[in-house]
Amino acid sequence: MSTTNPLSETPAVSDGVILRAEHISVTFPSPQGGLGALQDVSLEVCQGEFVSVVGPSGCGKSTLLRVLSGLLQPTSGRVYLHGTPLDGPCGDMGIVFQKANLMPWRTVLKNITLPLEIQGLAASEARQRATELIQLVGLEGFEQSYPHELSGGMAQRVAIARALIHDPEILLLDEPFGSLDALTRERMNLELLRIWRARRKTVVMVTHNIQEAIFLADRVIVMTARPGQVRADVAVNLPRPRLQDFVYCDAFTELARRVRQAIDWQENNER
Ligand SMILES: Nc1ncnc2c1ncn2[C@@H]1O[C@H](COP(=O)(O)OP(=O)(O)OP(=O)(O)O)[C@@H](O)[C@H]1O
Ligand SMILES: [Mg+2]
Repeated sequence: MSTTNPLSETPAVSDGVILRAEHISVTFPSPQGGLGALQDVSLEVCQGEFVSVVGPSGCGKSTLLRVLSGLLQPTSGRVYLHGTPLDGPCGDMGIVFQKANLMPWRTVLKNITLPLEIQGLAASEARQRATELIQLVGLEGFEQSYPHELSGGMAQRVAIARALIHDPEILLLDEPFGSLDALTRERMNLELLRIWRARRKTVVMVTHNIQEAIFLADRVIVMTARPGQVRADVAVNLPRPRLQDFVYCDAFTELARRVRQAIDWQENNER
């Protein structure tokens, strides 16, 4: 059994770090005395970066995102936002979960303005901001529609707009396009890149899809099976803007092979 991992790379990222996770471990209570979901995960995300996270089902990706958002306190380790320890959810982050989780009794517009209503912002200001975001995500004309009248892709676009409404610096996305068909997903990827560029956000996105992970990101973090650790951190040195044709170029295929190898390395070494 091999004990070294030739694929592990640690890109030099220290300048402009906005989000830092240091030695994060999470253990959930269980009848067996504790279920390790994450083990000693450290990573840095720079301002404006797009980072993808891939790994086997159940390896702790959603748990990692919840820790990064401040929704879940780790069992050990710390998350720092702009160098300050993160002790709970904060306005600098917007989160999109795998399911859009829209309020079925509220219109598209009202779903998007909800976080601002909770903050107590004036209705007219909230409406103006939501209208801009509806344009950004391409949902003009659907302001008064209800969630049951939307396609899956449209519902996810509402969820993205809702996550952006308070203008967070960081967007955390947990398989936001997981339930969409391949073609809609490709379109949504391009939309997401457009939004990322237009709004200059920092993005951490969990996905099961290697191609999607590479296509969107500056770096792909590959996690091991549970308890999740960082197996590889692969820099995606492909030019931007990226077009759908990119997935056919040699450099893209080579990156996909390296990410795949990192996943297979782990599977081979666990047998
Ligand atoms: N609130 C919780 N209480 C107890 N166990 C949990 C909790 N949340 C997650 N787990 C466990 O932690 C492990 C990691 O779960 P997590 O949802 O982070 O995995 P994941 O990588 O996101 O999986 P998937 O790819 O299927 O979405 C799983 O074994 C899960 O059962
Ligand atoms: Mg998950």
